[in-house]
Amino acid sequence: MPGRVVLAYSGGLDTSAVLVLLREMGYEVVTVTVDVGQEEELEGVEERAYELGALEHYTVDAKEEFAVEYAFRAVKANALYEGKYPLGTALARPLIAAKVAEVARRVGAEAVAHGCTGKGNDQVRFDSMLRYLLGPDFKIIAPVRELKLTRSKSAEILAKRGFKVPGSHGKYSIDENLWTRSIEGGVLDDPAAEPPEEVFSWTVDPSKAPDHPLYLEIEFRGGVPVAVNGERIGPVELIAGLNKVLGSHGYGRIDHIENRVVGLKSREVYEAPAALALIEAHRDLEKMVYTPRELRFKQVLDTEWSDLVYQGLWMEPLRVHIEAAIDSMNRYVTGAVRVKVYKGALWVVGRESDYSSYSRDEIDYNTGWYPEALEAEGFVKMYTMHSVAAARARGM
Ligand code: ARG
Repeated sequence: MPGRVVLAYSGGLDTSAVLVLLREMGYEVVTVTVDVGQEEELEGVEERAYELGALEHYTVDAKEEFAVEYAFRAVKANALYEGKYPLGTALARPLIAAKVAEVARRVGAEAVAHGCTGKGNDQVRFDSMLRYLLGPDFKIIAPVRELKLTRSKSAEILAKRGFKVPGSHGKYSIDENLWTRSIEGGVLDDPAAEPPEEVFSWTVDPSKAPDHPLYLEIEFRGGVPVAVNGERIGPVELIAGLNKVLGSHGYGRIDHIENRVVGLKSREVYEAPAALALIEAHRDLEKMVYTPRELRFKQVLDTEWSDLVYQGLWMEPLRVHIEAAIDSMNRYVTGAVRVKVYKGALWVVGRESDYSSYSRDEIDYNTGWYPEALEAEGFVKMYTMHSVAAARARGM
């Protein structure tokens, strides 16, 4: 006789069908929805869960934790998977899994369930975290993966039993949180076709953006943003506020081909105005502060960190070691960056930091410092000697 299962419930099409199927398998289903800033989907989620037969429902507000412990770590690591994707979904999964595991323990569940398919990254992220948190033998039920449910089959399961079929964006698979809005599927699966305007919701069409540029000053302390235009703002409001204002200027759209962990290439469309702007500004400030050696090595750390997070290895001890180095370097990433935003584009146009080793006195061509000719000649000669000698020896 099946007992109690805790389901990671988004309120969307697939997890709604999963809830119904679990009930029919005889489970008592406790649903958990984790609020990581997905405003669109949260409405009415609790009512829907009870309507579909949930025994108990929990909505966990994890916005602050998501912003501080996940999004801001991503800023410190300039986290862009394959140079483009700010990792919104990848960052949220381990946190959602942790909240689900917590409820599973509290209600004495014998299994946990999620709505991931067998060909996406999210199954890796959920399964790995749940196995880490609840033990490798704890039962994980993934009906979408097990039954190869498609979106239309999920819709059919609900419709046949007289339930409403959720999803105003039925054509697409959408995942949204404070950091990134992800849109997949439908016509987007043709990588040669331009995304239709209807897939976007956080950003206006850049050609319809205001005709005047927007200037913002973003202040960082120890590598994380703390104020915009001189006003101190908490993490959640800061990210949400930047998404709004930057999106209204058409900034924050991403369209790229992504290599999934599971061996498929996929065409991904994202909206992430705050994430992209914060990373751009943060990177610029790092250049003001770091030595060239620090800067080069930081890129290695950043790439490795981003890959681990993307690949569903949040629990990997190496992530913690890399973060220790990233944090140590970010201690000095304090200062302000001014950006200009205009019709979908963003430029850094100014920066300052007390920890900067930039010297205007030295760099100035007219009045600045110059080395003695002998010093400069000697440096150039010895610095280039390996390369000059090797190229000549080989007749290159
Ligand atoms: N490609 C992204 C990732 O693997 C997003 C996946 C979820 N997106 C979605 N629309 N269902 O992190």
